[in-house]
Amino acid sequence: MRALRPALLLTAVVVAGGCSESEPTVEGRWYTASQVARGTVLYDQFCIGCHGVDAQGTAEWHKPLADGRYPPPPLNGTAHTWHHPLKGLKKTIEIGGVPLGGSMPAFGNQVSEAESEALISYLQSHWPDPVYQAWLQRGGLQ
Ligand code: HEC
Repeated sequence: MRALRPALLLTAVVVAGGCSESEPTVEGRWYTASQVARGTVLYDQFCIGCHGVDAQGTAEWHKPLADGRYPPPPLNGTAHTWHHPLKGLKKTIEIGGVPLGGSMPAFGNQVSEAESEALISYLQSHWPDPVYQAWLQRGGLQ
C-alpha cells in the first residue's frame, strides 16, 4: 500500500492543477523561462538600439546630454531600474519617457501587457540576486 502513495499523490497534483502544462517560475523569481525567451525576442526588436545588447545602456547614463535629456540607462540592474515596481516599469514601456521630460518613445501601441511583462522578465534575468531581492523588498511585486 505504501509504495502506491507517491503515484497517487502525483495524480492528485496533476488533477488539482487542472493543467499539466503550467510552467514553474524560474527559481526565486516571478517569471518563467518562456517569458524570458519571449522578452529576449521583443527586446532585440524594440529596445536593443538604445539600451544595448545586454541591457547595459550607456555608461554615463546619469550625465545629461547637451539638450538636458538623459541617455538610455542600463536596465541590467546596475542603474536604478530596480527602484521601480513592476507596475511602474510597465507604465514606462507603455507611455515612454516623453511625458516626464525624457526621450524614450512609448510602446503601448506595439507591445501588449503580456509582452511588456515578458520584456521586464528579460531585463530582470540580468539582475543579480541581491538586486532582485532589494527590488522585492521595496515592494516590486505590489
Ligand atoms: C530611442 C531610444 C530608446 C528606446 C528604443 C527604448 N528606450 Fe527605454 N529609455 C530610453 C531613455 C533615454 C530612458 C531614460 C528616460 C527618458 O529619457 O525617457 C529610458 C528609460 C527606460 C526605463 C526606465 C529605467 C529606469 O531606471 O528608470 C525602462 C524600464 C526602459 N527604458 C525600458 C525600455 C524597453 C523595455 C524598451 C523596448 C520596448 C525601451 N526602453 C526602448 C531610451 C529608449
